[in-house]
Amino acid sequence: MRASFLPYCKPQLDEAEIESIATSFRNGWLTSGPNVKEFEREFAERSGVSHAVALNSCTAALHVALAALGVGPGDEVVTPSLTFVAGAQCTLELGATPVFADIDPQTLSVTRETIEAVITERTKAIISMPYAGRPLGIASLAQFARERGIALIEDAAHAAGMLDQGEWAGTRSDAAAYSFYATKNLTTAEGGMLVTNNAELADRARILGLHGMSKDAWKRYSAGGSWRYDVVAPGFKYNLADPLAALGREQLARLDGMQRRRHELAARFRTAISAMNGVSMQAVPERNGDVHSWCMFVVMIDEKKSAVGRDRAIELLTEQNIGTSVHYVPTHLFSGYRSLRRSPLPETERVWQQMISLPLFPAMTDEDADDVLNALEAVVSPRVFAAEQAV
Ligand SMILES: Cc1ncc(COP(=O)(O)O)c(C=O)c1O
Repeated sequence: MRASFLPYCKPQLDEAEIESIATSFRNGWLTSGPNVKEFEREFAERSGVSHAVALNSCTAALHVALAALGVGPGDEVVTPSLTFVAGAQCTLELGATPVFADIDPQTLSVTRETIEAVITERTKAIISMPYAGRPLGIASLAQFARERGIALIEDAAHAAGMLDQGEWAGTRSDAAAYSFYATKNLTTAEGGMLVTNNAELADRARILGLHGMSKDAWKRYSAGGSWRYDVVAPGFKYNLADPLAALGREQLARLDGMQRRRHELAARFRTAISAMNGVSMQAVPERNGDVHSWCMFVVMIDEKKSAVGRDRAIELLTEQNIGTSVHYVPTHLFSGYRSLRRSPLPETERVWQQMISLPLFPAMTDEDADDVLNALEAVVSPRVFAAEQAV
C-alpha cells in the first residue's frame, strides 16, 4: 500500500503560473483588464473559434449563452442528467424547464437518439456534454439541432485539449462553455470561457456577463475611456479577474505538454484495466481526428463480476490511500430536481451506480499510476475481497 494519500486531483502549477499572478498584482490591474483581453484573444486563436468571452465560471458561460439565445419561460432545454448540475440550474434560473436525456453507456454522453426521444415543440436548446472530454460527434448533433431550429450549446467543462474530428468545442455548435475550475485540464482557480462563431451572440453574452453594461470596466478605466456607460438590459456580475486570466494564459501556453502526460497516463490505465475482472471503461473515440482530453478517467465496477460494489470499492481504495470521486450523481435524483423527472433514464440510473473516477492529473508519476492500478486490482479481485470478508 502506498505510504501517502494520492489525491483525486492536483492542479499543475509551476513558478511560471505563480509569476504570472505576481506580475498581474504588481501592475495593479485586478479586475478584468489587459490579461483578460489577451486571454480571450489567445483562446480564440488556439480554438479556431472566432469569439471568446472570459467569465468567472463555466456556469456563468452557460447562463449567459442560454440568456443570449433568448431561453425563457415556457421553453425546454434538453440536457444530460449525468453531468454537473450547472446546465439544469441555469435553465431553471431563466424560468425554462430542463428535460433530461439518457446516455449511451459506452460513451457516457447523450446521443441524437436519446435527445430525439425527449424533444418537443417547446425545445429551445440542447446542452450536450462530452463526458470526461470524449468527443461525442458534434457535427452530426449540430446538423440534427439545426434541422429542427434548436440551439446547440456545448458544456465543454471537460473539453480543454479535446478535438472532435480535429475541431475544438464551439466550432460546430452555437456556443461552447469551458470550465477553468481547479480540477479541469486548464485552470484559473475559478473561471470559464464562452466561445462562439456568432458575433451577435458573443456581444450579447459579453454585455450580459457584466451587468448588461454597454461598456466594460477595461474601457471605462483605461486611457481614452469614458465614465459614461449605458445599461441595456439586466445582466449578471460574471467577469473574470485579471490575475486569474494571467494564470489562464500561462496554463493555455502549456496545455499541450499537460495533455501529453494525461494521454500517457490514460494509456497505462487502459492497458492494465482491460485485464481486470468486472471493470469496464468508457469507449475510446474512433473517428478520424478525434482526441480525448482525459479530463477524467472513469471505471465502471460490475458488482456481479468483481464481487465488490462501487461504494465498497471506493472505501477500499481510500483505505489504500487512493483518492477517488464520482461523476456524477444524476441531476434528476437530487431532492431539489426530482420533480423534473419526466421520462425514464435507465442507462443513467444503472451506470452511475457503477462509476468511480480515478486520479489522473499531469503531475502524477508512473509510480502513482501503478499504485492506483495495484489498489484497484486488489479491490476488484474476488480472492482479495473474500480474504477481507473472512477477517
Ligand atoms: C460537466 C460540468 N459542467 C459544468 C461545470 C461547472 O463549471 P464551473 O465550476 O466552472 O462553473 C462543471 C464543473 O465541475 C462540470 O464538470
